[in-house]
Amino acid sequence: MTILITYSTAHNTTALLAKRISARLTTILPPSQHVEILPITSIPTTCAAGIIPYSAIILGSAIHMGSWLHPAKKFISQHQSELGEKPVWAFSVGVPATEEMAREEEKKVEGEIRRHVPELKGHRLFKGKIERNDLPWVVRTWFRWFPGEAKFGDFVEWEEVEKWADGVGEELKGVLEGGK
Ligand SMILES: Cc1cc2nc3c(=O)[nH]c(=O)nc-3n(C[C@H](O)[C@H](O)[C@H](O)COP(=O)(O)O)c2cc1C
Repeated sequence: MTILITYSTAHNTTALLAKRISARLTTILPPSQHVEILPITSIPTTCAAGIIPYSAIILGSAIHMGSWLHPAKKFISQHQSELGEKPVWAFSVGVPATEEMAREEEKKVEGEIRRHVPELKGHRLFKGKIERNDLPWVVRTWFRWFPGEAKFGDFVEWEEVEKWADGVGEELKGVLEGGK
């Protein structure tokens, strides 16, 4: 059986998180469970067969302007019915300015995912990376998550990512052994 980790990224941080999650799952799951990582854009949205072979799915996306990237939104909208038949987890990657904004953003994004994947098993917002050059100038001027001072740098908390992946791995063991 194969577990799919599929992600949407603009500047590669989400891909790095997907790889770390995959590495943790590989150590936790029995050898009969394979983990495959693919960019969301490599899976045809028009073809249900694209995700049917997988026994569980972990979806990840960077957050831009308070929402998942377009390819990730399109994916959950177009694969809604297949996703409803599998255990699905999701993670988001953003750089919210404060812990309070992080909680708000996590809740909001999760609500958007659940509109298409109501049985979502779990969702987590992780801190990512941002450089000044990643932002179009116009965004710097009005973006909500810039309340004052711009915040640039690498904020990835790898331990948090690993802890989450380990939790998903343990849940997956139970779900897959139960034959769901
Ligand atoms: C144009 C742009 C818009 C962004 N909007 C948000 C946002 O609304 N909320 C947030 O938490 N982070 C936001 N970010 C930060 C990114 O989510 C963060 O840099 C993340 O690590 C990007 O992941 P990626 O490298 O996989 O693209 C934005 C970044 C860019 C470049």
